[in-house]
Amino acid sequence: MTASFDIEPAADGFSASIRGLDLAAPIDAAASARVAEAFLAHKVLVFRGQQLDVAGFAKAGGIFGRLVEHALDQYRHPEWPAVSIISNRNPRTGIVDPKGAARGTGWHTDQSYARTPCKATALYAVVLPSAGGDTLFVDTARAYADLAPEIRSQADRAAAMFSWGGRNPGNAAPLTPAQRARLPEVVHPLVLQHPETGAKALYIDETNAVRVVDGDAESGEALLKRLFAHATTDAYLYRHRWSKGDLVVWDNRCTAHRAAGGYPPGEERTMYRTQIA
Ligand code: SIN
Repeated sequence: MTASFDIEPAADGFSASIRGLDLAAPIDAAASARVAEAFLAHKVLVFRGQQLDVAGFAKAGGIFGRLVEHALDQYRHPEWPAVSIISNRNPRTGIVDPKGAARGTGWHTDQSYARTPCKATALYAVVLPSAGGDTLFVDTARAYADLAPEIRSQADRAAAMFSWGGRNPGNAAPLTPAQRARLPEVVHPLVLQHPETGAKALYIDETNAVRVVDGDAESGEALLKRLFAHATTDAYLYRHRWSKGDLVVWDNRCTAHRAAGGYPPGEERTMYRTQIA
């Protein structure tokens, strides 16, 4: 039987910390059910004090569903392909890339460039810099609920074209011809209805949402900009300041996130990441 553990929601309910649950140990059905319920209620779960190797991390991600490999094969762990290594340190040369801190700093939601994006992502701190390197999350369901009726009805009717790094190509790894062939442009609505809670949420992505598909380009761009600006204000924000041993899992169907960067150049930041189907 899984030992008892605490779930501590943030004051506004967006995110919760889980203490006393060892993700490396077997998790029984009652504990899994509590975690699944907290995941839907709080959207971002922070499991504190974990000690996981790559196999333990993959097992922990598996509590939430089937793991899927990252579309860019160069990030995959050599023995655990569903685990990506997100690092500013080159594994071959050991050199830390001073520009690595800029990576992932545009607001996005994972795999929005794919036909079927992943429902969740898990991220685990392996090596942290001495300062900075936070991850920011916004609650896009609450942002949707707060929209003025007129803009909400525009968002409800709109869809956008998404492609890998399409809006900000300078800040996304270039695709090989094979990767490009696997990732054609896709269309997603700008408002998603969560398949489990039924709540509607904005589907915003400053990195991959290239343009609104119908209507004139100028009004489409104005709508995207207005929705990004609205959803990414502090009113909907949770800032995760990483500690060693944190594993964070988030729901991509009702949140967006970005890396905050801002850590000292030359310091390593290495995370394990996996996507959950
Ligand atoms: C991500 O964008 O999936 C990772 C965020 C981070 O590295 O903080």
